[in-house]
Amino acid sequence: MIPDPSHPLPEIEAYLRSCLDDLAFPPALLDALRYALDGGKRIRPTLAWHACEAVGSPGEASLPAAAAVEFIHAFSLIHDDLPALDNDDLRRGRPTLHIRSGEALAILAGDALHALAFDILARRTPSPALAGRLVDELAAATAGMIAGQVYDTLGGLPPGLSDRERLELIHRNKTGALIRASCRMGALCASSGAGLPPACASGVPLTSGAGVLPASASGSPHLSAITRYAECVGLMFQIIDDLLDVESHHDTAGKRTGKDAAQGKLTYPSILGLKGSRAEVRRLHDEALSALRPLGPDAEGLRSLCRLLAERRK
Ligand code: IPE
Ligand code: IPE
Ligand code: MG
Ligand code: MG
Ligand code: MG
Repeated sequence: MIPDPSHPLPEIEAYLRSCLDDLAFPPALLDALRYALDGGKRIRPTLAWHACEAVGSPGEASLPAAAAVEFIHAFSLIHDDLPALDNDDLRRGRPTLHIRSGEALAILAGDALHALAFDILARRTPSPALAGRLVDELAAATAGMIAGQVYDTLGGLPPGLSDRERLELIHRNKTGALIRASCRMGALCASSGAGLPPACASGVPLTSGAGVLPASASGSPHLSAITRYAECVGLMFQIIDDLLDVESHHDTAGKRTGKDAAQGKLTYPSILGLKGSRAEVRRLHDEALSALRPLGPDAEGLRSLCRLLAERRK
């Protein structure tokens, strides 16, 4: 029987909670951090866990990387919901943080999560070589996410691109970059830093010309297979998010829907239509699975997670 790819969730939840222990923060900030971290699907930590297993290590080794990415993700959602960005009042079926606790605390909680993500990597990674490598990956991905949010919210994309190319550039950065980093960082944790190039030679620059992350900065055949998988899953994930915004109700999605069109966002349904977007999801799903072919049975967790993500309804 194929194990449920969500099986690491209890360990992931406990680890995330432990990352907020012993913080000498004002109680209101701690309360905001707990609220912002609560209730996510934990897709990125689960990807990190299975990527770590796919290269032959117990998933537990991925937990510092998994938590660091989830902290950046939580920060990105708090800021994404702010009035200056998407101006949303509902997230995970509850008021967004700025509605609940005010805009100032929401901005500062996002800032704190950003700093804490790198603190987790610095303090909880077993070796300085691995910590440096993970910091490098996460910094590049966070910068990519922010670039994607700028394109999505303010525009300023490079000239001469078709709508489809603009869309892909936005999605690969705003959502794809952190999903890519989740998988790559999980895989890197499996090696505990041994034999890894120094952080500055990772081949993943903080930014590149047009804000696009390099297609496949790798270092090993396994890492390059996982990177290809992650790039397909990342794009697929945001296409489904766009589809849910059109097709879903806020009771199911846990967040307001119908907003992308109202805000004039460039989305897959707006360019390819619903049918075309679903076909693209299927194509990316198949490509993600074929990328994993060299990996054998250890990658079964990544395979079943990809299937689950292609069918998600929230
Ligand atoms: C929502 O991400 C924002 C996107 C990048 C599409 P998730 O759907 O993973 O959000 P949570 O963490 O489960 O709420
Ligand atoms: C969010 O994209 C991407 C990031 C938070 C970086 P969306 O704006 O589409 O996400 P939702 O729909 O609000 O979750
Ligand atoms: Mg947004
Ligand atoms: Mg949004
Ligand atoms: Mg959305």
